Amino acid sequence: MDKNEELINLAHRRYATKKYDPNKHITDKDWATIMEVARLSPSSMGFEPWQFLLIENKDLKQAMYDDAWGAQHSFDGADKFVVILARKDMDVNSPHIKHMSEDVQGHPFDVHSAFSKKIIDFQENDFQLNTSRELFDWTSKQTYIPLANMMSAAAALDIDSCPIEGFNRANIDRILADHNAFDPKKWGVSVMVSFGYRDQEITPKKRQPMEAVYRVIK
Ligand SMILES: Cc1cc2nc3c(=O)[nH]c(=O)nc-3n(C[C@H](O)[C@H](O)[C@H](O)COP(=O)(O)O)c2cc1C
Repeated sequence: MDKNEELINLAHRRYATKKYDPNKHITDKDWATIMEVARLSPSSMGFEPWQFLLIENKDLKQAMYDDAWGAQHSFDGADKFVVILARKDMDVNSPHIKHMSEDVQGHPFDVHSAFSKKIIDFQENDFQLNTSRELFDWTSKQTYIPLANMMSAAAALDIDSCPIEGFNRANIDRILADHNAFDPKKWGVSVMVSFGYRDQEITPKKRQPMEAVYRVIK
């Protein structure tokens, strides 16, 4: 099989798992690989506005159960359950931006520099991220990049997954913050994802034809 065929097969192999086998467990090596792929994902300006919470606490899963209606089949059998957080503190004055610039990317940071002005101009004018909700939505959509990368990596390792947006965000934010999982001033829940081994057949893909989703503009 050539690489192209292999990639298409993996895209068919990944599907939204509705029934997991609770007796099957992901090896530490495979899990470390999935998390490393998440960590290496690209982000806008390289600011990595995310964190991944692996929820192992049974009481916490129980507390989330009713409000995370789209995750119930995952709570019932997935080996790993991850909540992906997105940052709220992402304006140019945020300590996170300074930390990423100086400690991770290795450039000196100054809120009055040309780079900072570029960030401000991008956020305020180019993308109009002028409210806390708009900023959160911007960071939140970036979290879907590691989400997708994790699911593709899992499929390549023959591990099943399910992306999850079926939850009441305000209630889940509150439950996790009450559990001291994060500071709700700095973080919010973006999306969830489960991993494990299926206890069902892989569902065949139902998709629009290529010509409905892909156009070449000349
Ligand atoms: C952002 C997003 C959120 C989703 N939320 C849920 C969910 O809460 N519960 C669920 O069972 N499936 C969820 N799904 C799975 C989709 O229904 C599924 O991916 C889609 O129907 C295509 O099927 P496939 O993934 O099996 O190819 C979600 C998918 C995405 C991408």
